[in-house]
Order: sequence, then C-alpha cells, then structure tokens
Amino acid sequence: MKFFLDTANIDEIRKAADIGILDGVTTNPSLVAKEKKPFEELVYEICEIVNGPVSAEVVSTEFEAMVEDARKLAAVHEHVVVKIPLIRDGIKAVTVLSKEEIRTNVSLCFSPMPALLAAKAGATYISPFVGRLDDISHDGMELIQQIVLIYENYGYPTEVLVASTRNPQHVIDAALMGADVVTLPYKLFDALFNHPLTDKGLKAFLADWEKVKDVLASA
Ligand code: G3P
Repeated sequence: MKFFLDTANIDEIRKAADIGILDGVTTNPSLVAKEKKPFEELVYEICEIVNGPVSAEVVSTEFEAMVEDARKLAAVHEHVVVKIPLIRDGIKAVTVLSKEEIRTNVSLCFSPMPALLAAKAGATYISPFVGRLDDISHDGMELIQQIVLIYENYGYPTEVLVASTRNPQHVIDAALMGADVVTLPYKLFDALFNHPLTDKGLKAFLADWEKVKDVLASA
C-alpha cells in the first residue's frame, strides 16, 4: 500500500520524506494557493524531494485547455502526475493524455459511476474523497469498497487513491479493502505513529532498565 502526503508545504513534505516511507505527494489548487509560490516552481521543488508521483492539478475546465495545461505540467518533472477534475471534459482529456502516456489522477470522485468512466478513459489513479462524503452523512469508505470491486471485476489497472482522509480508521479500512494508495494531510500522517500504549510500555521498559542498569552492564 502506498502512502502519499496531501500537501504542497515543503517543510511538511521534507519531514515526512525523511522517515523513509513516503511514496508520493498529492496537491490541489487550494493547497497550492496557501503556499504563495509560483506554481510550476513549487511543483518542481516537491518533485525533487519526493522519489515518487506528485499530483499537480489543472485549473482549466475545457477539454483543449485541460490537455494543453496537462502537457505543460507533465513537462515540469518526470514525477508529475496530472490531476484532472471528474467532469465530462476531464474524462475526454484523460483519454487523450493516457494515449500520450501522461499519467493522470482523476479527482473529485464521489460515486462509483464516474470512477468507472475514469478507468475506461485510462486514468492512472482515481481519487474518491471519503472525508467529504462522511461530512454529509454518506459512507465514504463504502465508495472505496465499490470502486475496488468494480476495478477488480474488469481488471482495470487504474489505482484507487483514497483522498480526503480524516483519521487513522480511514487508513486501516482502506488497507483492509485493498485500496492501492492513501493520501494523508501531514497531521494525520504524523498521528499514525502514535499509540498511548506504546508510549506507556516504552516508559515502563526504560524505567525498569534504569533501576538495574549497573548490574546488567557488569554481568
Ligand atoms: O487533495 C484532495 C483531498 O485529499 C482534499 O481533502 O481534506 O480538503 O477534503 P479535504
């Protein structure tokens, strides 16, 4: 299972990459806007830190402009995966881009039907937004289960990238369902390492060791 970081913040990406288990990064226009840096320069900088796919999103919404923007973004760095919104022109753009071997991440997926369209168009990744579905009292993870099953039924190579994750349970459920990738905001990535029983257990081990360490050293 691949772990991507869902951020455009260089400090967060460096910290996560430093641990050694980061497989890629996803960004979106809202995340990029927070960084107040020229877009293509920022994408290049991220690509140089992360040895894996880096999603960068087009902001045009019409077919020809989307294809043109996607080609420009793909030329920024070999790690770039072009993020495309799941609209009609987006699907059409993906059919063209996949023939050119430009990798795509089809975003803003909220139901299984358009996920099937994205796979038929040749998308590299589909990004269902589970947290935003949970926010409106739908079951985000049920959507993941449906898409994984549909793709398995037909052998589509499109990878299921679980996006809009909010808590560690989303990550566990995604792994149990066989999703290919989860993308995590830095706060959630950081939280995955914490368990109160690990902290408590380690404290007790070290305290016990401390009590007799001189004896152990001379034995
Ligand atoms: O990058 C796409 C997605 O992960 C956004 O998540 O938290 O804004 O719903 P969120």
